[in-house]
Amino acid sequence: MVEKTAKKAVKPTKKPVSAKQAAKTIKSKPISDYNGYDYKKIFWEDADRKYEDAADRMAIRRLLPREMENFVDIAGGYGRLANEYLPRAKTATLFDYSKTELAQAKEIYGDQLQTKAGDIYSLPFKDNMFDALLMVRATHHFKDMQKVSDELYRILKPGGVAVIEVANKKTLPRMFRYWTGKTDQNPFSLEPIHLKELNADGFYNYHPKYIEEIFKNSGFQISEVLSVSNFRSARLKAIFGNKFLINLESGAQKLLAPVRFAPSIYYKLVK
Ligand SMILES: C[S@@+](CC[C@H](N)C(=O)[O-])C[C@H]1O[C@@H](n2cnc3c(N)ncnc32)[C@H](O)[C@@H]1O
Repeated sequence: MVEKTAKKAVKPTKKPVSAKQAAKTIKSKPISDYNGYDYKKIFWEDADRKYEDAADRMAIRRLLPREMENFVDIAGGYGRLANEYLPRAKTATLFDYSKTELAQAKEIYGDQLQTKAGDIYSLPFKDNMFDALLMVRATHHFKDMQKVSDELYRILKPGGVAVIEVANKKTLPRMFRYWTGKTDQNPFSLEPIHLKELNADGFYNYHPKYIEEIFKNSGFQISEVLSVSNFRSARLKAIFGNKFLINLESGAQKLLAPVRFAPSIYYKLVK
């Protein structure tokens, strides 16, 4: 149900599909339920993810507006990234499905951060409400990205900014596995990869072209793209250490953006 490294993968369909075609075939939208799961401790504190955390923060500092009136962190969990946006926002809301996550956030940030529970597929916010939003490490839980993107567009004011991290299908390790015959999962085809986990729903990884079509269908303009977590690898961490990789990441985010083969692609979108 929760974020971890997926091992098994379901064979993709052979024919490439457009985002519109895929949206038509999407029926159920199950929730990845983090209620009762200590995401903060298990995923971040007990594991070596200092590099990944630093890479996310670097991208957010680069893409999020410096000053925001009304801001929302969508599927923001326990507010891991709140200290990045709180100093920039007059009002900040943390939105998530999991009440466990929201309660943890309240313990940490108190009244500095408003919290709201709900399901992303029908956001409990009025149209044109926020001047900026953030959504990080969440797209892999969402089967119907067109609906998600439409909802995010709806709640933003005209001219508002969405900073969205997307779990990328077209990564370098997947390319090597494909070229060396270790998998028949083609990282270059447009349809999403559905990584089946122990839980019912699994994870979705998206091809940048597929997801960019979805954002444009909603009405967004893509204003900036960053390639993020470029060196996410246990082997690289063991050889070079986090500090070195974080320094390397700093230069790589813009430089590698045109090739889009990092596990995380960050988009700055404008309504
Ligand atoms: C991997 S965590 C990421 C949390 C945070 N953005 C971060 O980067 O630390 C994914 C979050 O998505 C939330 N989530 C999953 N499905 C959701 C849904 N349908 N609606 C709202 N939130 C959802 C989970 O509760 C969880 O907190």
